[in-house]
Amino acid sequence: MTNRKILVTSALPYANGPIHLGHLVEYIQTDIWVRFQKQRGLACYYVCADDTHGTPIMLRADKEGITPETLIAKVWEQHFADFSDFGVAFDNYHSTHSEENKQLSAMVYTRLRDGGHISSRTITQAYDPVKEMFLPDRFIKGDCPKCGAKDQYGDNCEVCGATYSPTELKNAVSAISGEKPIAKDSEHYFFDLSDFAEQLAAWINADHLQPEVANKMAEWLQSGLQQWDISRDAPYFGFEIPDAPGKYFYVWLDAPIGYMASFKNLCAKNGLDFDEFWQKDSSTELYHFIGKDIIYFHALFWPAMLTGANLRTPTAIFAHGFLTVNGEKMSKSRGTFITARTYLEHLNPEYLRYYFAAKLSAGIDDIDLNFDDFSQRVNSDLVGKVVNIASRCSGFIAKRFDGMLSAQCVETELFQQFISAAPVIADFYESREFGKAMREIMALADKANAYIDDKKPWLLAKQEGEEQALQDVCSVGINLFRLLVAYLKPVLPALAQQAQVFFNDEISSWVDSLQPLLNHKINEFKPLMTRVDADKIAAIVEASKENLEKSATVAAVKQFEAIADTISFDDFAKLDLRIAKIIKADHVEGSDKLLQLTVDIGDETRTIFSGIKSAYQPEDLQGRLTLVIANLAPRKMRFGVSEGMVLAAGPGDKEIWLLSPDSGAVAGMRVK
Ligand code: 2FM
Ligand code: ZN
Repeated sequence: MTNRKILVTSALPYANGPIHLGHLVEYIQTDIWVRFQKQRGLACYYVCADDTHGTPIMLRADKEGITPETLIAKVWEQHFADFSDFGVAFDNYHSTHSEENKQLSAMVYTRLRDGGHISSRTITQAYDPVKEMFLPDRFIKGDCPKCGAKDQYGDNCEVCGATYSPTELKNAVSAISGEKPIAKDSEHYFFDLSDFAEQLAAWINADHLQPEVANKMAEWLQSGLQQWDISRDAPYFGFEIPDAPGKYFYVWLDAPIGYMASFKNLCAKNGLDFDEFWQKDSSTELYHFIGKDIIYFHALFWPAMLTGANLRTPTAIFAHGFLTVNGEKMSKSRGTFITARTYLEHLNPEYLRYYFAAKLSAGIDDIDLNFDDFSQRVNSDLVGKVVNIASRCSGFIAKRFDGMLSAQCVETELFQQFISAAPVIADFYESREFGKAMREIMALADKANAYIDDKKPWLLAKQEGEEQALQDVCSVGINLFRLLVAYLKPVLPALAQQAQVFFNDEISSWVDSLQPLLNHKINEFKPLMTRVDADKIAAIVEASKENLEKSATVAAVKQFEAIADTISFDDFAKLDLRIAKIIKADHVEGSDKLLQLTVDIGDETRTIFSGIKSAYQPEDLQGRLTLVIANLAPRKMRFGVSEGMVLAAGPGDKEIWLLSPDSGAVAGMRVK
């Protein structure tokens, strides 16, 4: 099917922060997939854009004393440079703050409204009277209404795990102005997702989603679809709603429409037919690569919006897991929150492209960047196996044969074996099983090296009358190397580029149509890749560490505040601290802070609600041991009764760490 037409997107990064290695998993994954499709000769377009709207971007611009437009223009340049330097080759990189997006958002909204899927009603929210704006939950802080802990943000206490409405916070203040918020009414617009319940139920079961994602969506559908609030009040950096002056589209309304807008912008540049790709029943293919944290928006809201607007729905959504570094969440204090730019200042981007490829699968498991494993794989696979083939053969061809390859291929069978792997490797690329593709390719590299080991060109070079054999063997080696480069080209475009100069020939197609280079003059060989320098990794970690001194001071002050009131030993002895095993962890419908944990504490099973959702995925917790306070009085929360407390450390948000016992501990052991 060579007439396939494919449109591919990666999630649009927010325009208020730098691209980091966590982001790059997705862009590299998508870029490899797109490059593969293009190498196969398909019409494949890869578009993306900066996601520029919303309160955080507006406030950051405010803080920097610049307009949001200036901020997003500056960030666009940085993002684009980072992606380009990592070899991520978009066909178009646009912005959601664009004319195309404004028009398309208005069009989608108007169609939804005319279809009767938009309703409005008045809601009451916290309002900052000084800043004169409504406050999103995360911008309200105060004392926990249950335990009194200070400086709790939003609707959940990080200290005791209680959840509440932000209006219940004691001494609540706006995190922006420090002023006490007031309750204020305002009319909001809602998209009636439930109008599409039936279509969505059919859609999620029709092979558009990975199985584990489809299951999750089915659960969400079953628990009922709420109306989705798609409006925000001024001041807001975004698009004004056409028939509602002073009201703006919530950023998540116009963000996915930004995919269409970027493509529309591309169409204008190169004469593609926009409608062919977006009309209902389009025969083109549409794929969205996303992180597993934004599945809800892409697998429910987005198809519902498209259906309601009489447009096509995605062919598939490809979700991936998060990146951990050395087995842990990326952390500023450990120096593992690494920006794209910091990495680029020290290491070759293709090391990371290869490493991610070697670790990626079609699933949504997290992937770990382990620095030792990273060096070892790059050194042994790329430098030691692949590039080595060329360095072992090229010198003889240059010196003894003036760069000419043999007129014949003396190992047609071996060459053919390499070609025969093409369909299998193509299937792995197509199905995003990049790790498996890399293993196949490295197995071929092993064969090529074994061939050279066996033929020993360095000995042939010393023997009289073996000139032809020497040229033949080295020519086979270089031709096998060329096939490996062709297989790796989607992953290592820069290496492939240099290798093509060496071959004096371009690889413009997939491997199955390649013929050996015979009687062909190649260019001088220059080292294509060097080994990973461990010092460079250390330098990256060092450069990525935040100002530890500063954060250590803050931590010390907090600790001092916490221990200012001492407790007696008897008080301490009252605590029933236990090792607990997390048997099950679930999202809590309607809470963006809590996870519901089912824990085994030895003699019984307890349900505990814990405010750790920002830092953990439920599936990562299942089976792990941690510490709980078992004799805390049960606490009735909005979502159920919490029968204990799980202990964790850290400042909050993504940096919360559950405590783990040393090996040997088992569920139920008491901690003393
Ligand atoms: O989660 C995020 O980073 C969002 N900026 C992704 C938006 S993807 C798309 F819908 F625009
Ligand atoms: Zn509390």
